[in-house]
Amino acid sequence: MKTSLSEFIANLPKAELHLHIEGSLEPEMMFALAKRNSVKIPFTTIDEVRAAYNFRDLKSFLDLYFAGTAVLQTETDFYELTKAYVEKAITDNIRHSELFFDPQTHTDRGVPISAVFAGIARALREARSSDGFSSKMIMCFLRHLSEEDAFETLQAALPLRADHTDLWCGVGLDSSEFGNPPKKFSKVFDMARELGFRIVAHAGEEGPPEYIWEALEILKVERVDHGIKCETDERLVKYLAEHRIPLTVCPLSNLKLCVVKKIEEHNLVRLLRSGLCITINSDDPPYFGGYINDNFIAVASAFNLTGEDLVDLARNSFRSSFADDEQKMKWLQEIDEYADNRAID
Ligand code: HPA
Ligand code: ZN
Repeated sequence: MKTSLSEFIANLPKAELHLHIEGSLEPEMMFALAKRNSVKIPFTTIDEVRAAYNFRDLKSFLDLYFAGTAVLQTETDFYELTKAYVEKAITDNIRHSELFFDPQTHTDRGVPISAVFAGIARALREARSSDGFSSKMIMCFLRHLSEEDAFETLQAALPLRADHTDLWCGVGLDSSEFGNPPKKFSKVFDMARELGFRIVAHAGEEGPPEYIWEALEILKVERVDHGIKCETDERLVKYLAEHRIPLTVCPLSNLKLCVVKKIEEHNLVRLLRSGLCITINSDDPPYFGGYINDNFIAVASAFNLTGEDLVDLARNSFRSSFADDEQKMKWLQEIDEYADNRAID
């Protein structure tokens, strides 16, 4: 069957491995929750919010991202936020998603950590039983805060682990990168590893290759979130390729945060051709102008990617996920069938 590029991408089964659930807050929901919870936000119209999606760098985005999260107060808010993302993910043919969430963003405002876990988990479990949608939760530490703060967050979350073993599988690191190297969190990640959590970290989004080395060697990450600044270090690129360490790349995010000037200048296709395990993800979709399929389309159009390239990227997403091997095999078979039956017109 011949299909257009956009149809080929839309119907391609895929996994999303880099998505901040708080960053999936659409302006319409921001207003609705602000009203419901009587929270003041610095905007009067939805157009005003969209006009503010104009970033210079990661820091300028994070300022708005943290301001937006103030409307999230109750278990129901986290449930509705997650439900909205999952509905979109299902229409985009995402079969499996690993969601980042930042409890510190909420506990610092007095929201109980249990409400954050419970609301996200409720929506994910419902989607699993109604649509077979598979998911995991990855709790991220905010790297602009101290390691002690991260320890407190892990301690506060641990009593919730028993009720969330079906979902909560990992620990990550996000927020502003410069000046907050992975090594700042070496002890708390040692503890998370000893407790059996899977480990990821944002590194090399804006920061230097040394931060990626630290994520690999000190935090012992299994995947690097972003990682695109690896390219100036030849030895690092070789290491990432040889060990098939996945990079969860977010092209439209990199564009919006001015890490690249034009999508045509993005290095992900070069890295893919150098043998790296590249995956495509959306990061914070409303803020960066697109969900996962929009990211695929932007890259495929800019680089004239073939159907085989796109299938390769989707295979990488499943292989790099924290789902179990049996489940991964099923998805990979589904992709094989898909690839056998479609061609881009
Ligand atoms: N980078 C770092 N921290 C974040 C991001 C990001 O793109 N989104 C939400 N927190
Ligand atoms: Zn991110």
